[in-house]
Amino acid sequence: MTRLAGKTALITGAARGIGFEFAKAYVAEGARVAIADINIERARESAAEIGDAAVAIEMDITAQESIDAGVAATIDALGGVDILINNAALFTAAPIIEITREDYARVFDINVAGTLFTLQAVARHMIARGKGGKIINMASQAGRRGEALVAVYCATKAAVISLTQSAGLDLIKHGINVNAIAPGVVDGEHWDGVDAFFAKYENKPLGQKKKEVGESVPYGRMGKPSDLTGMAIFLASDEADYIVAQTYNVDGGQWMS
Ligand SMILES: NC(=O)c1ccc[n+]([C@@H]2O[C@H](COP(=O)([O-])OP(=O)(O)OC[C@H]3O[C@@H](n4cnc5c(N)ncnc54)[C@H](O)[C@@H]3O)[C@@H](O)[C@H]2O)c1
Repeated sequence: MTRLAGKTALITGAARGIGFEFAKAYVAEGARVAIADINIERARESAAEIGDAAVAIEMDITAQESIDAGVAATIDALGGVDILINNAALFTAAPIIEITREDYARVFDINVAGTLFTLQAVARHMIARGKGGKIINMASQAGRRGEALVAVYCATKAAVISLTQSAGLDLIKHGINVNAIAPGVVDGEHWDGVDAFFAKYENKPLGQKKKEVGESVPYGRMGKPSDLTGMAIFLASDEADYIVAQTYNVDGGQWMS
């Protein structure tokens, strides 16, 4: 299919997981993609797996000079950026009385400041270029409500939903649509870490939390990265031109339940 034919996309944190799945899906729709990641080795492997339509870009979204250099390198390689997916993020969890300032600052720096300043760098390019664009932020069901052991990550994702609203309202006058996707629980390397955390704090065997969480989803199982690609393609396509500042749940019904 060719819903993104001729488009270029910068996807942060795309070396693995959901971002990598988005990169493959975008290329299948006719786009060329920049796989931007702090893990450049893995980004190179992932880009090579996709082929000529993908390029690996080293980018640490917590460092402004790295964001600027990564955006410039993407423009160089692809000729411009039509679509940004702000996908890179870290999970963290701890009981309220064990949260440290260091972990709070580290996770807000990636999930919130990283999202905002990557969005800003790409929006400046899109405005200067005068062709509009599509920006998709990765939020989470965790941004819709608190969770007892996940205060900091939940707060970062609530901030992503809020930033999506403000940036969406500000940038639409330039033809830039800013929207977000709120997944539920999506299996992969990320969730292996989440499972290990709950194994420690809830005294469960490894794999138990994943099993419980999967069973709790109304759809009947955890999500797969490929469950999210339809929304990511749609929000990047011309069909989404009139959609502004929204966050869409793609979660098998989990948040509603
Ligand atoms: N997996 C889930 O259950 C789930 C649920 C809801 C929301 N999300 C969100 O979806 C997005 C992707 O999740 P995932 O499961 O694929 O995560 P993941 O941990 O598998 O991948 C994250 C990627 O981001 C990269 N990264 C980390 N720090 C970075 C930095 N400073 N600069 C650039 N890249 C950096 C990592 O190297 C990795 O490749 C995240 O925003 C996450 O919060 C995931």
